[in-house]
Parts: sequence; structure tokens; C-alpha cells
Amino acid sequence: MATAMSMSTTTATATTAKTTSLMSVSLRRSWSLKAFSVKAASSRCSTSEFDPKIPIEKAPTPPFSWYSLPSFHSLELDRIFYKTWQVVGCSEEIKDPGDYFTGRVGSVEFVVCRDDNGKVRAFHNVCRHHASLLAYGSGKKSCFVCPYHFNSLLVDVDFTWDQHFVWVPSYIGRVPGWTYGLDGPLLKATRITGIQNFNVNEFGLIPIQVAIWGPFVLLNMEQKVTSDVDDVANEWLGSASEVLNTNGVDSSLSYICRREYTIECNWKVFCDNYLDGGYHVPYAHKGLANGLKLDSYSTTIFEKVSIQICEGGSMEGKDDYDRLGSKAFYAFIYPNFMINRYGPWMDTNLVLPLGPKKCQVVFDYFLEPSLKDDKDFINRSLQDSERVQMEDVALCEGVQRGLESPAYCFGRYAPKVENAMHHFHCLLHSSLNE
Ligand code: FES
Ligand SMILES: [Fe+2]
Repeated sequence: MATAMSMSTTTATATTAKTTSLMSVSLRRSWSLKAFSVKAASSRCSTSEFDPKIPIEKAPTPPFSWYSLPSFHSLELDRIFYKTWQVVGCSEEIKDPGDYFTGRVGSVEFVVCRDDNGKVRAFHNVCRHHASLLAYGSGKKSCFVCPYHFNSLLVDVDFTWDQHFVWVPSYIGRVPGWTYGLDGPLLKATRITGIQNFNVNEFGLIPIQVAIWGPFVLLNMEQKVTSDVDDVANEWLGSASEVLNTNGVDSSLSYICRREYTIECNWKVFCDNYLDGGYHVPYAHKGLANGLKLDSYSTTIFEKVSIQICEGGSMEGKDDYDRLGSKAFYAFIYPNFMINRYGPWMDTNLVLPLGPKKCQVVFDYFLEPSLKDDKDFINRSLQDSERVQMEDVALCEGVQRGLESPAYCFGRYAPKVENAMHHFHCLLHSSLNE
């Protein structure tokens, strides 16, 4: 709250300074003064500043405050990121028992693993003793041992229990920190002689709902949701699930690599850029535009998914290298996951908020198995993809700076091309007001 208030003051000060400066050079336009005063007044967090009932032709976009206020960011974590299915990784990363990976969504630290029986599990990655993170990165483990209270010289202070929960000395010598099974229970705790009112069954790792769909691992921080795979597909993708399947989004592709980008913009700026129906492509991505027939761009809206499709450009003048193929298929899955299927490639973009004005975008690349050893093709494709991504990074960071200018309050939609973006904003409004 204190941060939101100080930000409001800063904005108001900047607004006053900018207004004075504009007046002094005789640029007194009624629209700008109106915008400045509206902006100063609306520096508080409000979800009512966007009305999903207004048709796209007449609608203003969500205001700048949605893209910059810390209080709005907190609201989004609570009402969106902790309540929707979140893709957190690939099933490839937890192929065998003992495989695990860790990550973070908002302030939720998680670990996903495959237990000894082959079951996929997910937990809050937090030791129940004093909250140390338990696991880091990814790899293979037979159990999770806390790295914090780990002693190598102590004797007679290590206790474990048999299945009747009778405390018995375990071994003397090297003493691990609190230790948990891959399926979650607390197996061992050190130096807790004399502890009372302690029920070991209540101190296992706290589970998170986990599901696998195609090659993706999903988590849902809400405890009451089901993890039945059909229900997940339905909740996450709705009627678009079939369309994804028939357009080559499946587990048959080979996982190639991951690339991560930290961008100085609100996470929604990246999503908006993705959802403008190719509007920016001819100007910002000249290389990409050459490989696409941009006048064929079409957008279809599903419940929580929008799909943009564009035909590939002519092969004339190209050599054998064809990264994009005959059709580019771009699926946006609310709130923050994108699947791009083109030629022999599929890449996914996961956008994670790191704060009100910073996000991380994680690209995972998958390729048709027949090409997975073609290093030249892979390197060339990744370079082209990286170029497009860097062009988008520059655009998004420029937009974030513009959003924070006192000259900007809200924008407008290009109704014929930006309907997927409008749909995204309507879904945000709905989640935030639930
Ligand atoms: S915080 Fe994990 S053993 Fe102390
Ligand atoms: Fe782009």
C-alpha cells in the first residue's frame, strides 16, 4: 500500500511538471490536459476502469495503471496466477523416477518430481522447519534433504521414527537436514529431542495440484481443483483442445532447448504484443514478414484460448531452408502461455511476472524428430527466432516506458485485427472481479 501511494505521488508530480512544460511551449491541447488529470486521479488500483461490455469498436484499452501499479500486480497474482492452470515445464524434464525440477510463480516456490512409483508430484519447495528452499535447479534425487540445518560433526542428535512414530536414534556421524520423501512425507528431522505437540504427519511437504497435458506440466495452486486430465484439458483449453491436437500440438516432437529472456515490461505488454493480429509484424519483423502471407492472417476466439493463423509465404527465392513452412499457428492460452507451431517447429512462450514492470519469458523449442540431429538447421532457426524475439523485446520495453509517461492513460483497439487482445483483456477483467 505504501508503495502504491508513493507511486501515485510520483506520478502526480511528474504530471504537474509535464503539464507546466507543455503550457510554456504553447502546446495546450485539450486532450492532453484531460489525459493528465485523469491519470493523476486514476493512479489507484481499480479493475473497473475497463468495461468488457463496451464493444471493441468503441472500447478503450485497460488504463496504464493495470501495467504499472504494485497493488495491481499483487491482485493479479492472487486472482489470476494462483487460480489458473500454469504451465511450469515439460514432461521430458521428469521422465524417470527421481527426476525433478524447481521454479517460481509469483511468490510460490515449487518443486515437481516423479516419485519412486512413477507418479508425478508437485510440492511447495519449502522446508517445514524454518522455510529454507529445499531443492534448486533440476536433476535427480532419491529424497529431498534440506540444505540448511545440515551438520557433519554432531552425534546422538539425529532422530528418525519407525512407522509407529516412536522416536529412535538413527545413526551417529553425518546428520542431514530435515528430509522428505519424493512423495512428500517428512522422513527425518535433526536435533528435535524434547519437541512436544509435534505430529510428524502434519509436517510433510505441502502438495500442489499437478497435471500433464501433451508435453506440458501444469500446476494449479488452488487446492480444491481436480487433477483429472480430462478436466484439466477442459478447464485449461475448453473447446480449443481438439484444435490444438489437430494442428500438431502433441507429444511426438523432440525437445530441443530452452531460452530465457528478462524483459523490462509488465507481463501483459508481452501478451498484448502477441495478440495484435500481426499488426506490428510488417514494421517490426521484416525478416519474419517475408516468410508469411500477412493478408491471410485470421483470428479465432475460444473460451480461454485465441488462435491466430497465417499462411507461409512463397518458397520462391528460398533455398532448402524453411523454418516457417506452409502455415504458422499461434495459440494464446489464457493467461500467460503461447504455443507456436510452424513448419517442423513448435515453440512455447511462458510469460512470468517478476514485478509490476518486469517479466521473464521462457521459450521451449520442440522439433520434428527427423530433424533433431540437423545442427545447422537448428542453429539457423534458433538465430532467426532470437532475432524476432529481440525485436519484440525492444518494442515491449518501449511500450512500458510509454505507458508510464504522463501523456498516456489508455489506448484504443484496431477492431479488425486486435480482437484476440480485447478477448484477453475481457478475461482479465473477469478473473480480477471474481
Ligand atoms: S530449515 Fe530445513 S532443516 Fe532447518
Ligand atoms: Fe512480434
